[in-house]
Amino acid sequence: MEIPIKNICCIGAGYVGGPTMTVMASKCPHLNFNVVDINEERIASWNNKNLSELPIFEPGLKDLVNKTRNKNLFFSTNIKEAIELADIIFISVNTPTKTKGLGAGKSSDLKWVEASAREVARYSKGYTIVVEKSTLPVRTAEVIQKILYSAEKDSGKEKKSFSVLSNPEFLAEGTAIKDLEYPDRVLIGGENEGAMLALSQIYKAWVAEDKILFTNIWSSELAKLTSNAFLAQRISSINSISAICEVTGADVREVSRAIGKDSRIGSKFLDSGPGFGGSCFKKDILNLVYLAEYYGLVEVAQFWESVVYFNNWHQRRISQIVVKKMFGTISQKKIIILGFAFKANTNDTRESAAINICKDLIDEGAHLIIYDPKVSSNQIEKDLEICPSKELDEENKNHFNKRVGQWSFSTNLDIFENAHAVLILTEWEEFKNINWVKLAKKMVLPAWVFDARSIIDPEEVKKAGLNFWRLGDGKTDMEINI
Ligand code: NAD
Ligand code: UGA
Repeated sequence: MEIPIKNICCIGAGYVGGPTMTVMASKCPHLNFNVVDINEERIASWNNKNLSELPIFEPGLKDLVNKTRNKNLFFSTNIKEAIELADIIFISVNTPTKTKGLGAGKSSDLKWVEASAREVARYSKGYTIVVEKSTLPVRTAEVIQKILYSAEKDSGKEKKSFSVLSNPEFLAEGTAIKDLEYPDRVLIGGENEGAMLALSQIYKAWVAEDKILFTNIWSSELAKLTSNAFLAQRISSINSISAICEVTGADVREVSRAIGKDSRIGSKFLDSGPGFGGSCFKKDILNLVYLAEYYGLVEVAQFWESVVYFNNWHQRRISQIVVKKMFGTISQKKIIILGFAFKANTNDTRESAAINICKDLIDEGAHLIIYDPKVSSNQIEKDLEICPSKELDEENKNHFNKRVGQWSFSTNLDIFENAHAVLILTEWEEFKNINWVKLAKKMVLPAWVFDARSIIDPEEVKKAGLNFWRLGDGKTDMEINI
């Protein structure tokens, strides 16, 4: 018998919960979606009348929120009520790497997942389908099940009952709306066929049936970790080749293009960059490492751990190149950092390569001026754990006090006066159109442009008389004698 579904609850209004429920609400006007969170500020931002103040920047999100909010999509902190009402509950809370205790540094901290499961156990009524949307270590569903089944036993006349499913999310930030609207696949892992069918009915409103995959619950959990591990490994692979290109005279873009034509390899995810960032790749690989270690699979653990190790090395490599090229010292030199987000089209900075690279450059005594179109000064301060020096304004934009190693924030690109170098760390569209000839006149020559994202036309920089370095380019790794 088909399970009737009317009310959906999502616990966690973050980068996954918010966009996912917004897209679902837009595709399923006949269903109600209540997105709840313990973070009052975040919920207030989701409810802000000014759609530019949503807590997450994601292309296309504003329009969809505008269409659905307070119609069939509601953001609130009333967790109890949303759970009581719900036929299906998505758990979409954060699962960062544990910093303390057993498994610290590798396994996921499940305290937010456990707290959510306990809330569901406490407030739910009747039969509820509970869906793991967060990325979780394999066999986490068992933990959720144990908590919920003990509530089942205790429920007396109320007769609570649950089915637990795994439905991992594969969206990437910056393209979340497109990824949700046109997913490569939707994965549903579970045991209860009725519950799996009920969840699939939601997706069938816009996803073709052959893209909805059913698996057992553990395969679903493991497939999510594996998918991220494969993607991250691919980036480390091409970044390792970039280092070889630089010393041999080859060009990593040409190598990527050539190998990407092989249909078995494919052309996506072959852009060499400053090292992968984002809240998930590192965390999910470390989860896999922890799992392998737990089962005594030492070589498997080492294999995956090397992907993370390499990524850290690669990020360091970029800051070292900057120092080496600038005559071995950047002390008190003004370096402009373009981009702080871990990739373009998001305001997210979690694990951004920019964090380690900027910290390294500040340690070397540089004065950084950081500009990112979507990341705030407060966020950068939290990430760098260093207060900014005086805000840049008309009076002091050319002036620095003599304290070594500092950074300032800028809200625009009017920052090139007296700069010794520019380092591009995020591939924002607006950086592609910089007029180097005009800006070079303001810089201290010989000045450098370091492009860690391959978005700048080398010819334009050359024309401006600037030194140019880009990642993995053995051909243009050249110095212009001025
Ligand atoms: P996030 O930190 O942006 O959001 C999580 C939200 O959950 C926070 O707002 C937090 O306040 C809330 N929360 C925590 N405990 C709660 C509780 N007990 N009750 C109510 N709210 C609670 O995290 P995110 O980026 O949305 O990621 C969530 C999960 O999705 C993670 O497991 C992540 O690995 C996975 N994931 C993330 C992405 C991504 O692109 N960010 C993509 C796919 C999967
Ligand atoms: C990634 C996955 O792509 C999603 O499928 C997954 O759902 C998500 O993680 C998750 O589980 O959180 P995301 O981290 O948002 O998505 O963004 P990606 O596009 O994968 O980029 C990750 C990092 O790799 C970024 O720093 C990006 O700049 C870098 N990258 C990506 C490269 O350096 N080169 C590439 O070719 C692609």
